[in-house]
Amino acid sequence: MAEDIKDTKSSNQMWGGRFASGPSAIMEEINASIGFDKKLYAQDIRGSKAHATMLAHQGIISGEDKDKILHGLDTILSEIESGQFTFSRKLEDIHMNIEARLAELIGPAAGRLHTARSRNDQVALDFRLWVKEELQRTEQALTGLISAFLSRAEEHADSVMPGFTHLQTAQPVTFGHHCMAYVEMFGRDRQRVRHAIEHLDESPIGAAALAGTGYPIDRHMTAKALGFREPTRNSIDTVSDRDFALEFLSIASIAATHLSRLAEEIVIWSTPQFGFIRLSDAFSTGSSIMPQKKNPDAAELVRAKTGRINGSLIALLTVMKGLPLAYSKDMQEDKEQVFDAAESLELAIAAITGMVTDMTIRTDKMKAAAGSGYSTATDLADWLVREAGLPFRDAHHATGHAVALAEKKGCDLAELSLEELQAINAAITADVFNVLTVEASVASRKSFGGTAPDEVRKQIAWWRARN
Ligand code: ARG
Repeated sequence: MAEDIKDTKSSNQMWGGRFASGPSAIMEEINASIGFDKKLYAQDIRGSKAHATMLAHQGIISGEDKDKILHGLDTILSEIESGQFTFSRKLEDIHMNIEARLAELIGPAAGRLHTARSRNDQVALDFRLWVKEELQRTEQALTGLISAFLSRAEEHADSVMPGFTHLQTAQPVTFGHHCMAYVEMFGRDRQRVRHAIEHLDESPIGAAALAGTGYPIDRHMTAKALGFREPTRNSIDTVSDRDFALEFLSIASIAATHLSRLAEEIVIWSTPQFGFIRLSDAFSTGSSIMPQKKNPDAAELVRAKTGRINGSLIALLTVMKGLPLAYSKDMQEDKEQVFDAAESLELAIAAITGMVTDMTIRTDKMKAAAGSGYSTATDLADWLVREAGLPFRDAHHATGHAVALAEKKGCDLAELSLEELQAINAAITADVFNVLTVEASVASRKSFGGTAPDEVRKQIAWWRARN
């Protein structure tokens, strides 16, 4: 597409009737949106073709004019796609750029296209169509990410790692279980995307400036032709509403927050101190000065993109919050936020999917860390409840003594002798050593949604059937 925006057209040619002189250069600068809304060219042309077809079907324009319009619009589509179209800033936006070119191509018939519509319903249509397609792309991307996690979870349903709370070792879990936590998060994001597609699936075209139109249009026909479930029901709301853009941005912000938490874990796990994973060369960078370094730049940038996406949500919420009904030009500021967030989100999902697929899981390091920090203390307490009949609070207390002793001796719980344990509670037998290993600990957590490998495999199967 031609990037340069020329100013060869005559100013205010679309409404010249009422205006004696053209806009000042500054007015033109602040007013024009063609620099970014040219991204909507395909949606604008689709919308215009559906509108013109409906106008002819309803006898509002002639079949001959409709044919000229459709042919002209097809020509414009190929001019834009082959980089031959000259965008003009004097023509403000994509809608007027296309209409002006249509007039050059087909003459007076072009002037009939804008019957029974306004740029207000036109832009609402174009933007909805674009956001709908972007939501569909996001759904696909999330499905890819979920599937990457399912593979890693399957591979590591038995690999033990430390589970953390407060980033302090809590209880052993499996890496597969940890992966499945992200599957749940991205699965919810995908549900939100699907709901948003349902919410926006109404066609705005025909709401006109705000009040509807006196022409006998058929909004159900255009809705159907454009792949919408039905037309919107209130013409004032239709041209005032940007919920679909806000909903996209809030979904994007929540998904980006999930991606950012994962990115943070990737950063932590790939430090030499943790050493739980090794990132592939494809997703890390070196240092220009320190030859030993391998940096998780992609993860850090995913973490940072979240700030940018959240910023877009706040920006558009703030644009919309004070607007009286119906359309105000403020709303032109909706597109850049959505375009930028969409690009960032797509890139972040792709980068994370690549990292998750490629990273090496260092099961030896994970297992060693899982056993340290007295991570099986809860298992000892549970054993005392189950086998020795202690109330949980007493078992907790006795286990606290065992941890303190092990800490004093600088050893693990499993390295305490039977005598030492019996001195803490006489009911303890050698059987206790069966629960003090990390493997026994994870295998015992068979509650629904728990970390036991068999349970994790059930979760994986549930998701496989739904991905
Ligand atoms: N470029 C405008 C936008 O993006 C199109 C709608 C203009 N409507 C108007 N009444 N000036 O919002």
